[in-house]
Amino acid sequence: MITVEALAWPPVTEPDFLTATRTAYDTSAVRYAEFIGEHFHANPINRVMIPFFAELVRASGDGLVADVGCGPGHITAYLRSLGVTAFGIDLSPEMIALARGSHPELRFEVGLMGALDAEDASLAGVLANYSIIHTPPERLPETLAEFHRVLVPGGHLLLSFPGYDDPAEFAEAYDHKVFLAYRYSPDRVAELLLKVGLAEVARLVGAPGEDPQRGFPQVYLLARRLTRNPQG
Ligand SMILES: C[S@@+](CC[C@H](N)C(=O)[O-])C[C@H]1O[C@@H](n2cnc3c(N)ncnc32)[C@H](O)[C@@H]1O
Repeated sequence: MITVEALAWPPVTEPDFLTATRTAYDTSAVRYAEFIGEHFHANPINRVMIPFFAELVRASGDGLVADVGCGPGHITAYLRSLGVTAFGIDLSPEMIALARGSHPELRFEVGLMGALDAEDASLAGVLANYSIIHTPPERLPETLAEFHRVLVPGGHLLLSFPGYDDPAEFAEAYDHKVFLAYRYSPDRVAELLLKVGLAEVARLVGAPGEDPQRGFPQVYLLARRLTRNPQG
């Protein structure tokens, strides 16, 4: 049988980093899920910006929130417990199977954060918790533009990622346990956000020493979609 993909020209191919990230998380999904749920809830820093984000979303009229790169779905469930109508998206089918198994009452879909299956201006919020870390720096602007596309004007984005504090640099690669990852300069990410039409609302940066494993500051960056594009 000839498929649509077989007829497409140029051929439909996926960037290598996505294929490799999917394989890595499919392989380690069970181990990751066993570790992360407890780890996430044990760290009080995670109960500062996520409830703040949830409150802003609720105040704007209770629209839908996408937890992109949701992994096993623990943050999607946390958002629901905070009164937000959240669903999860992840590129790893194994992660999505685990999320559905642990939270059968919630919606989880396989999907890519760089090409979300959502209409323009259809979501009240997007949360990406440590999931942009596998996106190479040169692909980050298009990913942030995609978050902007799906948010309603006034909608909120919450990003969390390991910070990098060299003012001259944007990002640094590191050997994450699952797959090659990047830590980012919060200032430079905030600049990029503004370029795509998302203005910073607040940030929280943990001290590097609070991360006993690598000494990377944990960054939470909250932004709001501007009602008008700053570039006109
Ligand atoms: C470090 S885990 C974080 C999972 C969860 N958000 C958390 O905070 O525990 C990164 C997750 O992002 C997903 N991911 C990475 N790149 C992605 C992409 N381009 N689109 C969708 N999901 C992606 C991975 O499959 C993985 O589940």
